[in-house]
Amino acid sequence: MRVLVLSGSFRKGSLNSQLAVLTARLMSDNGATAEFANLRDFDMPSYDGDIEAAQGQPDNSVALRDRLRAAHAFVIASPEYNASVPGVVKNAIDWLSRFRPQPFKDKHALLVSASPSMVGGNRGLWALRVPLEHLGTRVYPDMFSLATAHQAFADSGDLIDAGLQERLDSTVKAFLSLVAADTHYPALQRC
Ligand code: FNR
Repeated sequence: MRVLVLSGSFRKGSLNSQLAVLTARLMSDNGATAEFANLRDFDMPSYDGDIEAAQGQPDNSVALRDRLRAAHAFVIASPEYNASVPGVVKNAIDWLSRFRPQPFKDKHALLVSASPSMVGGNRGLWALRVPLEHLGTRVYPDMFSLATAHQAFADSGDLIDAGLQERLDSTVKAFLSLVAADTHYPALQRC
């Protein structure tokens, strides 16, 4: 099973990128082929219908669409900005939603977040569910939000708190099982 694991933070020292890398590693440990990618590498102009009409989709939108199509499922590790989704994450969703076939439809997704705050960015994930579910993505009901994330990672990239690491690992296992059990699994990458 191929899983695209995206970080929604452009920042080099991003806590969400650290969480995305760890999630990808746990997925690989559990038998999936997980590929980490940063949305920064697919930077797109702000969605503008005039650009779309004159030039079509930006190259990076096409490239991200192709990466998504090649995956059976995806993960987004997204920061919470002002209790919602960062603009760059929503902008990428808006561009990609314009393709036909629409690339988010029927894909399974796991949402995770990391924040220095006590809520771990969880409100942002609830906001992120809305456009994805609208587009037909099967967003996994459980989400993983890492609070006080600036103190959470060991040098190895694992979580210092063994209980939290175990919870992330069990969430990953349950998510991969759900995708594998989907009767449409063999066809998912054609969406
Ligand atoms: C934040 N941050 C933040 N954190 C949070 O838990 N809830 C919030 O509503 C916000 N709002 C917010 C708005 C803006 C514009 C910025 C720049 C930051 C803090 C944020 O969680 C923190 O900067 C994280 O470290 C961002 O994630 P990365 O870049 O480390 O992955």
